[in-house]
Amino acid sequence: MSRRTVLITGGASGMGLAIARRFREAGERVAIADRDRAALDAAVAMLGGGPEVLAVPVDVASPPACADLVERTVAEFGGLDVVVNCAGVWLEGAAERVTEAEFDRVLAVNLKGTFFVCRHAIPHLERTGGAIVNLASDAGLVGNAGASVYSASKGGVVLLSRSLALELAPRGVRVNAVCPCDVATPMIEFQAATYGGGDPARYKANLLARYPQRERARFATAEEIAEFVHYLASPQAAPITGAAIPIDFGLTAGY
Ligand SMILES: NC(=O)c1ccc[n+]([C@@H]2O[C@H](COP(=O)([O-])OP(=O)(O)OC[C@H]3O[C@@H](n4cnc5c(N)ncnc54)[C@H](O)[C@@H]3O)[C@@H](O)[C@H]2O)c1
Repeated sequence: MSRRTVLITGGASGMGLAIARRFREAGERVAIADRDRAALDAAVAMLGGGPEVLAVPVDVASPPACADLVERTVAEFGGLDVVVNCAGVWLEGAAERVTEAEFDRVLAVNLKGTFFVCRHAIPHLERTGGAIVNLASDAGLVGNAGASVYSASKGGVVLLSRSLALELAPRGVRVNAVCPCDVATPMIEFQAATYGGGDPARYKANLLARYPQRERARFATAEEIAEFVHYLASPQAAPITGAAIPIDFGLTAGY
């Protein structure tokens, strides 16, 4: 297989960065896009730099910025084979305290950003028979008490992905969503520090208490998610499209 070009939003941190690393290990070219410029610089260094790593500062909440991001990637590498939408933000708290600005920001990054990156990538992916992988969440499959807006945004990502899969199947483009449980990334640390009431360890223990593994429960690693995303974007996964795949230790399997 010739080297592919992979565009990863949220590529400066957590799962996005682990996914970029996994594709680089396989010799692919990666464009990492993120709104955090300092983290982007650090990520480029971590990925070893060079002409096959492109860093693009972008706020995916802006549709014109999503268009520029796709065009810049194609101009740099000559095409586009895989898009992984990882950029995302977390919000939790009682519904009656959510402001309109918070609601708009979560939907703009998690759902609108995912859509507009896909939208602008479609013609390029059609040319290469490419694939899209969108990061949804366990909270996109089942409700999450205290995180209604985040959950709604990720539920949106699930049905956006399924709908695009049906629309693009005749044109040879696959679209899937992955739905991880809690993953050990900076986002979990942010959640615990911001919403843990001063006791981040207890916040994390409370998350783990929900898992079927009970005392054996742990967070997934970014590398475990990256391995699966790499597979999902590969030709070996050709029959898989329109799926929303839990990677969650059985968390959403039932009671
Ligand atoms: N960590 C978890 O437990 C978990 C579980 C399920 C799903 N997810 C989802 O997986 C994805 C990756 O999460 P993570 O844990 O790696 O988070 P992370 O916070 O480590 O990384 C997210 C990255 O997205 C970037 N980003 C945020 N808003 C952006 C914007 N407007 N434009 C461009 N970049 C932006 C951030 O700067 C950051 O680098 C997110 O969509 C998240 O909602 C996370």
